[in-house]
Amino acid sequence: MPDPTAPGPEYTMGYSPEFLQLLDRRNADTHAAYLLPHLRSGMRLLDFGCGPGTLTVGLAAAVHPGEVHGIDMEESQIEMARAAAVAGGHGNATFHVGNVYELPFEDDYFDVAHCHTVLTHVPDTDAALREVKRVLKPGGIVGSRELIVSSSFSEPAGEHFPEAWATFARLLTANGGHPEMGKELKRRLLKAGFIDIRATGSFDYFSSADDVAFLYAFIVDWFFMPRVIAAATQYGLATHEQFDQWRMEMDEWKEMAGAVGGLAFGEAIGVKP
Ligand SMILES: C[S@@+](CC[C@H](N)C(=O)[O-])C[C@H]1O[C@@H](n2cnc3c(N)ncnc32)[C@H](O)[C@@H]1O
Repeated sequence: MPDPTAPGPEYTMGYSPEFLQLLDRRNADTHAAYLLPHLRSGMRLLDFGCGPGTLTVGLAAAVHPGEVHGIDMEESQIEMARAAAVAGGHGNATFHVGNVYELPFEDDYFDVAHCHTVLTHVPDTDAALREVKRVLKPGGIVGSRELIVSSSFSEPAGEHFPEAWATFARLLTANGGHPEMGKELKRRLLKAGFIDIRATGSFDYFSSADDVAFLYAFIVDWFFMPRVIAAATQYGLATHEQFDQWRMEMDEWKEMAGAVGGLAFGEAIGVKP
């Protein structure tokens, strides 16, 4: 098992307000729709890599009065998740700083283990899924929704911007992540020993004027922030000139009447035998 305390590759997205504005738009109804039909009142549910808890609180409502535990390796996220649970009156949700490689729960504890855009970032998928399987009861289900970067887009694409999406994928890979994890979920879950896999796909789609403005602001605020440009250029994935070119194309894109954008995701549910 990897040492969760060892210094490792950086978590690509970081915890800046620029990135958290994207997580703030997520909720269980929209981002865990594939899983909700499988949830029942009284189930005990784990949300690993819960971030600021915007999905976790909806999952807590779905299984109420069942116990919900959110885990994240970053303390600031756990503090935000606790605040969200208190604000929403979700007394059945508790949150812990912890690592998916070493979950602080006994064997066969949960009915459901959920994550959203986490396996995209966790370097050792096999070790993570082994640990998730350990804490699930036999018959318990795992559910995950993860990015497919190669199917994500801003359209009309511009001459150079597709290379920006490819650079984002390479940055994830350089940090130990898996930009195509959404497509890999079925085989990853099978390899980990889960059965009855149901794999589906969906988009976060940005089409209204407000959504396009949001996606533009998010890309400009996050992808063009100095930390991200420094990482991409230091890894040799892109040049400053390319970032300048991409930025000009994004500025043009946001003004186009036909502008749409999409983040592509794969989802999968599996059962612990
Ligand atoms: C992209 S965010 C997603 C947060 C939330 N699931 C959502 O979709 O809104 C990924 C989260 O996974 C957490 N994470 C990454 N690797 C982890 C690990 N090995 N153990 C626990 N949390 C991890 C990060 O700290 C981050 O909060």
